[in-house]
Amino acid sequence: MARALYIHWPFCLAKCPYCDFNSHVREGVDHALWERALLADMAIEAELAGGEPLTSIFFGGGTPSLMPPALVARLLAEAEYLWGFAPGIEITLEANPSSVEAARFAALADAGVNRVSLGLQALDDAALRFLGRLHDAAEGLAALDVAQRHFGRVSFDLIYARPDHTAEAWATELSRALAFGTRHLSLYQLTIEPGTRFATMVRRVTSSS
Ligand SMILES: C[S@@+](CC[C@H](N)C(=O)[O-])C[C@H]1O[C@@H](n2cnc3c(N)ncnc32)[C@H](O)[C@@H]1O
Ligand code: SF4
Repeated sequence: MARALYIHWPFCLAKCPYCDFNSHVREGVDHALWERALLADMAIEAELAGGEPLTSIFFGGGTPSLMPPALVARLLAEAEYLWGFAPGIEITLEANPSSVEAARFAALADAGVNRVSLGLQALDDAALRFLGRLHDAAEGLAALDVAQRHFGRVSFDLIYARPDHTAEAWATELSRALAFGTRHLSLYQLTIEPGTRFATMVRRVTSSS
């Protein structure tokens, strides 16, 4: 039987205008407090759903690539102690493609992460600015390159159906994306989620027209 563990890191450097995930911007994060809380939560989860070794662990966010690699290593050690790891376990971490985060990829791989899901979102600067991302296209592709050197498995996210995004432009972007040779892509249609900055902008535009 497959048993998977999900660990959520709810902090980001900035809130993207489309995002309604459980993600928050904070001046500082008390890593020791979060370590204690996550370890306590894992102990309870293991009591409720122990017994089978884990086949998959996913660090999602928020931006887990902002987690100190030592904290990731500590959580993985505890997960292995509580559940055990099945052979070939997949350990994924969601990463934002900034140069600062790419610089941590080696340490995250040493901590035990063997797959990264990278939030590229788009391959050109204008689209990335529209999406409110902190990285530009060159920085994103450089991070992809570093990720492919450090992790056996890499996937990345793209958001399509942006305003003025034609089917032809999306086909071209997808062909470029496929050429990077990752074996997995996650493709999301831009969704206007209630409570986001984009939802406010849409409301303003529709109420003034
Ligand atoms: C937890 S989020 C992102 C992880 C990471 N913090 C990042 O931004 O790269 C997972 C993915 O959901 C997608 N996503 C989030 N909100 C979306 C929306 N409103 N419309 C379309 N895609 C969305 C983005 O592609 C994002 O990378
Ligand atoms: S898309 Fe990612 S980086 Fe942006 S706010 Fe959401 S979780 Fe944070």
